[in-house]
Amino acid sequence: MTVTIARENAIAVVTVDNPPVNALSQALRQALVEAVAELDADATVKAVVLICAGRTFIAGADVSEFGKPPQPPHLPDVVARIEAAKKPWVAAIHGSALGGGLEVALGCAYRVAIASASLGLPEVKLGIIPGAGGTVRLPRLIGPAAAVDLVTGGSPVGARKAEGLGLIDAVLDGDLRAGAIAFAGDVAEKPLPQPISSREVPPVEAGFWESAEKAVAAKARREIAPLRALASVRKASETDFDDAMAFERETFLDLRGSKQAAALRHVFFAERAAPRPPELAGVTPRDTRSAAVIGGGTMGAGIAAALRDAGLPVVLIERDAAAVERGLANVRAIYEGSVKRGRMTQAVADERMASVTGGDDYGLLADTDLVIEAVFEDLAVKRAVFEKLSSVCRPDAVLATNTSYLDPNAISEGVSHPERFLGLHFFSPAHIMKLLEIVPTETTALDVLATGFALVRLLGKIPVRAGICDGFIGNRILKVTRAQAERLLLSGATPSAVDAAMRAFGLPMGPFEAQDLGGLDIAAFQRKAARARGETPFAPVAERLCAIERFGQKSSGGWYDYQPGDRAPQPSEAVAAIIAEEAAGQPQRVWNEADIADAILLPMVNEATRILEERVALRAADIDLVKIHGYGFPRWRGGPMHYAEARGLSEVVAVLDRLASDGLADPPCAGLRRAAEAGSFSALAK
Ligand code: 3HC
Ligand code: NAI
Repeated sequence: MTVTIARENAIAVVTVDNPPVNALSQALRQALVEAVAELDADATVKAVVLICAGRTFIAGADVSEFGKPPQPPHLPDVVARIEAAKKPWVAAIHGSALGGGLEVALGCAYRVAIASASLGLPEVKLGIIPGAGGTVRLPRLIGPAAAVDLVTGGSPVGARKAEGLGLIDAVLDGDLRAGAIAFAGDVAEKPLPQPISSREVPPVEAGFWESAEKAVAAKARREIAPLRALASVRKASETDFDDAMAFERETFLDLRGSKQAAALRHVFFAERAAPRPPELAGVTPRDTRSAAVIGGGTMGAGIAAALRDAGLPVVLIERDAAAVERGLANVRAIYEGSVKRGRMTQAVADERMASVTGGDDYGLLADTDLVIEAVFEDLAVKRAVFEKLSSVCRPDAVLATNTSYLDPNAISEGVSHPERFLGLHFFSPAHIMKLLEIVPTETTALDVLATGFALVRLLGKIPVRAGICDGFIGNRILKVTRAQAERLLLSGATPSAVDAAMRAFGLPMGPFEAQDLGGLDIAAFQRKAARARGETPFAPVAERLCAIERFGQKSSGGWYDYQPGDRAPQPSEAVAAIIAEEAAGQPQRVWNEADIADAILLPMVNEATRILEERVALRAADIDLVKIHGYGFPRWRGGPMHYAEARGLSEVVAVLDRLASDGLADPPCAGLRRAAEAGSFSALAK
């Protein structure tokens, strides 16, 4: 039973129970319509409370039904039926009232919520717009300006703010059910309020829609849903209810079938699957109540802030007293930045900083639950750190390395109780970037792996399990991206053409701009290490730039020239000359944006397929999350693997074959050919 009805004297309590989040499945929609009919017909009922069991109010339409034809009763009709009820319905909200859930609440005569509840219309984040009156009723209830913010931004608001906006009628203290029944008892005596659908939309100032359109377009970049959502609110403000509903529904159905919506849905489910690898089902993580970070440089300071922000007291260990001071200053600088950007108050920043302590004495870690190492990328230095940790930490303390490229198995040699060791690869800046690659070694115990996943949840980040190889998932693909970008330069493209093509695809920055920002020296260091291992990394132009100390913005020049104090990249004649020398004798061609994007992206997909075949990544969707959350791949493209599948893997193989025959890429790997035959990467799942 998804809906049950109880009676409390003259008040009926309709309880929705459709775990996990009370999504509006067909069965639930049907049950709600039947409940309205039953209660309308019951003369003993004077008012109705609509409440939900479990962790939340109705969290929206059932997203898993979106790929299929809509089944009646359709949600707009369900909401209309509730709005037309003969008795006042009171939505009693806890957890989240999102999307269709809020639309159902807007059909009710009243809305009450507990203070911790949140309400919103997040549809644009799924590439769609509200489809059951959200854009039409909301401006009638709270005015067009507030409606535009909620609908085009997609972020929910807390109950208090919702009350201030007029979105809900009361914030209730104490027990929600009892409070809502009392509220319903009061309103049962009053005449039914005017339904939202028959209210007028308050007028807007001249020029409101034009400036809203500019603001929304600037923020949405290439995502289509926010502007379509704005158009729907505008329509609702300029025409009658029925016309506006028809316009909204048409837009909703159109977007529901769009490529962007499919991509964003894919990411939605990928983000929810990633934190729960099947092998950890039923495994209890170790307690993490205190944490330490070794090394207070770029990464260590960011990791310390991330841990502290998640509520853990943090000890920062550095080499000596002066380094401790520098490390703590790095953490302080992060908090000062947050205060400056308005992300937190000075008081909160001070309080956080007060429980980040520093020292150079490993003895401070005798009772710490979790230690994350972020010292120099040097095997000997890291091993020495873990040797000390092995001697001072509790045998059950979890020990982690943040290495980017070293082999965690090699780092863990000599660690006592090696089952408590794993890789936790943060991305820079660690207190902001959402991605964390979790890298078990040959000896990592399952409960330690589970501790890594639990930590990432506590940090509010996205965990992806990665196997051990050079660069794990993300940086291994990055190496291919950069090599391809250089291949293009040697065959006639320019750095600015490559960067422009990748921005046109939707990336925030092209590969050359990104290297100039981060510094070319880091990759040069990795290539040196790779050559020492007998590998032959391909970066002929980058090597020459590093040889003349063109390391990027920090040295006023890299792939581009920079004027002092100006970050705008200017094409460089010096770089063009080096490219021309390196390209001498190679066939040149004319590149357009689409071909450039293919020559960068499809080899990424090829490498990612190898990663999947080798089980370095467990799911294609995990690779998508790595690229979206670690490298700025556009979310609305769904990640490289979704992009490739949506485009058609046979076409991907054909384009790669052509690039390979021109000497511009590796040929498709066997796994990619197999996946193309099956039409999906799931064919590679073992
Ligand atoms: N449809 C189907 N499944 C959903 C869902 C939805 N709307 N929302 C969440 N789920 C599933 C998740 O996939 C997950 O499933 P799993 O356990 O099998 O992996 C499970 O519910 C729990 O989800 P979370 O891990 O996200 O749970 P949290 O407690 O962390 O968060 C939440 C709860 C805040 C409600 C969060 O799930 C959320 O934001 N959900 C999406 C809400 C949303 O986007 N609603 C709008 C839908 S579109 C719509 O309503 C269109 C309408 O206008 C017609
Ligand atoms: P960094 O050079 O900024 O900081 C390293 C810090 O470690 C320095 O403050 C140094 O004093 C300290 N340190 C060195 N030896 C120590 C010891 N024995 N005991 C205590 N402290 C010691 O380096 P960064 O960039 O923070 O990198 C640290 C680690 O994180 C490396 O393994 C790197 O590969 C990895 N990493 C770096 C990323 C980045 O973007 N910078 C991203 C992800 C991982």
